[in-house]
Amino acid sequence: MNNKDVVAKALYAVLKDDLSMEQIEKLLENPKSADHGDVAFPAFALAKAYKKAPQQIAPELAEKIDGANFEKIEVVGPYLNFFMNKGAISEKVLATVVKEKEHYGDANIGENRNVPIDLSSPNIAKPISMGHLRSTVIGNSIGFIMEKIGYNPIRINHLGDWGTQFGKLIVAYKKWGSEEAVKEQPINELLRLYVQFHEEVETQPELDDEARAWFKKLEDGDKEAVSLWQWFRDESMKEFNKIYDMLEVKFDSLNGEAFYNDKMDEIIELLEEKHLLKEDRGAEIVDLSAYDLNPALIRKSDGATLYITRDLAAALYRKRTYDFAQSIYVVGNEQSYHFKQLKAVLKEMGFDWSDDMHHIAFGLITQGGKKLSTRKGKIVLLEEVLNQAIDSAKEQISEKNPDLENKDEVAKQVGVGAVIFHDLKNDRLNTFDFTLEEVVRFEGETGPYVQYTHARAMSILEKAGFTPDENAHYTLNDEASWEVVKLIQQYPDTILKAASNYEPSVIAKHAIKLAQAFNKYYANVKILADDNQKDARLALVYAVTVLLKEDLRLLGLHAPDKM
Ligand code: ARG
Repeated sequence: MNNKDVVAKALYAVLKDDLSMEQIEKLLENPKSADHGDVAFPAFALAKAYKKAPQQIAPELAEKIDGANFEKIEVVGPYLNFFMNKGAISEKVLATVVKEKEHYGDANIGENRNVPIDLSSPNIAKPISMGHLRSTVIGNSIGFIMEKIGYNPIRINHLGDWGTQFGKLIVAYKKWGSEEAVKEQPINELLRLYVQFHEEVETQPELDDEARAWFKKLEDGDKEAVSLWQWFRDESMKEFNKIYDMLEVKFDSLNGEAFYNDKMDEIIELLEEKHLLKEDRGAEIVDLSAYDLNPALIRKSDGATLYITRDLAAALYRKRTYDFAQSIYVVGNEQSYHFKQLKAVLKEMGFDWSDDMHHIAFGLITQGGKKLSTRKGKIVLLEEVLNQAIDSAKEQISEKNPDLENKDEVAKQVGVGAVIFHDLKNDRLNTFDFTLEEVVRFEGETGPYVQYTHARAMSILEKAGFTPDENAHYTLNDEASWEVVKLIQQYPDTILKAASNYEPSVIAKHAIKLAQAFNKYYANVKILADDNQKDARLALVYAVTVLLKEDLRLLGLHAPDKM
């Protein structure tokens, strides 16, 4: 139970004739400064019923409240300021963390039901973009958060590995490509071929027919077409995997758009059965005017299916295969319209589970205020960013701790962690500007700062030779520890908030606040002083290490013990 619940309960016992529990909870405030206690209740709402001024009501109310859980209840004008009983709360909170360790804050809301998460999903033969990086790290973290509250996450990389562009690529490769060039620099070479196709087609329009014919062959399973396509896909995957390995992201499925090639006839049949397909200039569409949306284009006049057709097949496949509780799509907010249409078509088809599909959108990364353009060499940039972050981490670690044993390992965890944390610390819908200097900064609200704080707390425990005792009573009454205790107490609520908003930034912000509060504590209190509170202080330090490490894990970062 958090402090607001405790206060609400105490108030409800006195006010139940006038206000509901819900109304009381809504009125409670978090005072800005610690001088005004931990929770405040404004008495304005009672003025009408009591026919008195709130300033008069407040002291009378304070008299009546059972004070067992409070150090004091102070009246300031119309406000009741509740000061929680620090000793009782710290004892309970520390005992819980000591007992539950990294499982503190776990919940079983998911009851082990499946939640497929569509994440990363770059396009074969093209560089992986900053947007795909965002999708990867946000989706990965949401997976950990959902798992913490009891769901079974299934990470699906819905690769963009199908579509008419593969016909173009085959034509271009056969005309102007070479095996060696593709092997050497797959993405750059495939992109070059694609660009060349578009240049040449200007003067040779017949290339388009050739490309269409090759894509048709691919769809029909022609051996040569399939083996070329497979090869492009494998070579692209090798490049993507370099980045996934660095980020340590693992997928449960690489079923991309191609996987649904043989599953689209069924979608068309279902749509026909329900009389949902309408002809429109030779193409087939689903009318969505009832949803205030433009029609969804399902099949082009030449019979080719589209991105949305494959997404319809994928949605149905996921429902059948995983019987999901929720189905999550972590994709940039520029695709919001697509997901609205997708859900609307499924709804029209009678699939009410489409309500359990959630598009988890995120904002753009800009550079110098401008949208990043899809230009050559972006994949190098992303790898470069990670490598530069690692180099910078190595430099700073060498300065701070020259004798550190596994320096390279730690530098990797810190450098890559810096990039991930930078992406996750702001609300996902925010647009943010990307500068390398900003990412690899090791001070301020960064991943390395949290990691460093964790390592510092670990070293205190090590120095003291402290291991927590499940049967001990760790009690702290002082103001200095209270800020830290409160952040530990809020942890289960923090997890729930992050999960229900699909918002890793909630975790990142908690980690920063906890690290800051701990560093302040460390600066002001002699933790290792020999007095009867020493073990309680060390138990607090222990709880901080457990939570910081868990926060970092939920974001996809390591927490090295030393750095
Ligand atoms: N490959 C797409 C792109 O890069 C993203 C796919 C997202 N997932 C999905 N099921 N539509 O834009």
